[in-house]
Amino acid sequence: MNFNEAKNKLAEYGQEHILKYFNELDEAGQKSILEQIKETDFSVTGRIVNGINEEARGKITPIKALTLDEIDRNREDFTKLGVAAIRAGKAAAVLLAGGMGTRLGSDNPKGMYDIGITKTVYIFERIIRNLLDVVDETSTWIHLFVMTSDKNHDITTKFFKEQNYFTYNPEYIHFFKQDMAPAVTYEGKVYMEAKDKFATSPNGNGGWFSSMQNAGLTDIIHSAGIEWINVFAVDNVLQRIADPCFIGAAISKKCVVGAKVVRKADPDEKVGVMCLEDGRPSIVEYYEQTDKLRNTKDENGEPAYNFGVILNYLFHTKELEDICNNELPLHIVEKKIPYMNDALEFIDPKEPNGYKFETLILDMIHMLDTCIPFEVVREKEFAPIKNKTGIDSVETARELLKKNGVEL
Ligand code: UTP
Repeated sequence: MNFNEAKNKLAEYGQEHILKYFNELDEAGQKSILEQIKETDFSVTGRIVNGINEEARGKITPIKALTLDEIDRNREDFTKLGVAAIRAGKAAAVLLAGGMGTRLGSDNPKGMYDIGITKTVYIFERIIRNLLDVVDETSTWIHLFVMTSDKNHDITTKFFKEQNYFTYNPEYIHFFKQDMAPAVTYEGKVYMEAKDKFATSPNGNGGWFSSMQNAGLTDIIHSAGIEWINVFAVDNVLQRIADPCFIGAAISKKCVVGAKVVRKADPDEKVGVMCLEDGRPSIVEYYEQTDKLRNTKDENGEPAYNFGVILNYLFHTKELEDICNNELPLHIVEKKIPYMNDALEFIDPKEPNGYKFETLILDMIHMLDTCIPFEVVREKEFAPIKNKTGIDSVETARELLKKNGVEL
């Protein structure tokens, strides 16, 4: 993209200020900002008309989950179906590692965090070991796609290489970068980070499939005949990945999405719960849960919205591709955005100063017709690391890992 093309593109969205310092830049700086302009979708900035404007929710009703009792009764059959699908090469996994991990407060990607006590145990290492359990059980390599972001791609790929992919077969690991969205002022103007760079952030965890397509990786899905994709977050060090029983259950119940869920520890636990919204699968985030919703009981006197999602989902590829042309709702989120001011000083704000744009995986689920919430035992499969200490922290995850016999 040359200067004039960039200028025209920016003019369309009222963002011409991005080229304000262009003439002061050296050749490399000019090339770099033109490249960034070329790669960025600025149309999102036009959405800031009335500030944050979330759409109203539809009618929320309970969804039936596959509970532990029922899973245990069918475990053997489900597992057999899942193992057969994996052996036929029909299952893959996608690790979402494009987040910023701000709460953990490390400069490195979250997966590089060492949670060991007497030896090094990296979060990425735990994830790969968990997947290797299934590779061993099925004697089949499973394609693992790793989503990074512009901010952490190079360091992540270098780290995997240095660690010899934690003994995984590198031919089956594919990295791709998540698309970025610009970060803007409350008036919708893109913040500058430096003279040759404007502020961007990863476009949310809903961007994974379109980013995979943009990176050309869906070719592997087609050529390998992958029918099921297990998408999961980087920070749950106990989760089972490409779990044959989970895959078998989704096949058996003829659902196009599966969601691993845990029974809520208490009504106020900060997890999104599965439900139906206008008859379609959906998730109510914890901050949207009303007292009425929390206190609703089912016919057995149990809380009707009791199954919290743990960001471990299974998608059937064909239906994913069918919805990929439909736009996901865009969430406009107030955040602290570091920027360069007009006096060319770099400011790291202590309070939110603008908006970032994100799409969410839970909106993908709502676009699909059928979903089976699949209950798992919290103490065995849910050890999220969001913070350094306290709830969902390195400390709590270490305790749970030890209880599950993992040496740290
Ligand atoms: P979180 O919402 O917990 O965000 O991500 P985070 O970036 O890890 O942590 P905080 O909120 O800044 O402290 C849940 C999962 O989604 C991935 C994360 O890497 C994590 O696996 N994610 C999130 C992405 O891959 N891309 C994103 O844009 C956002």
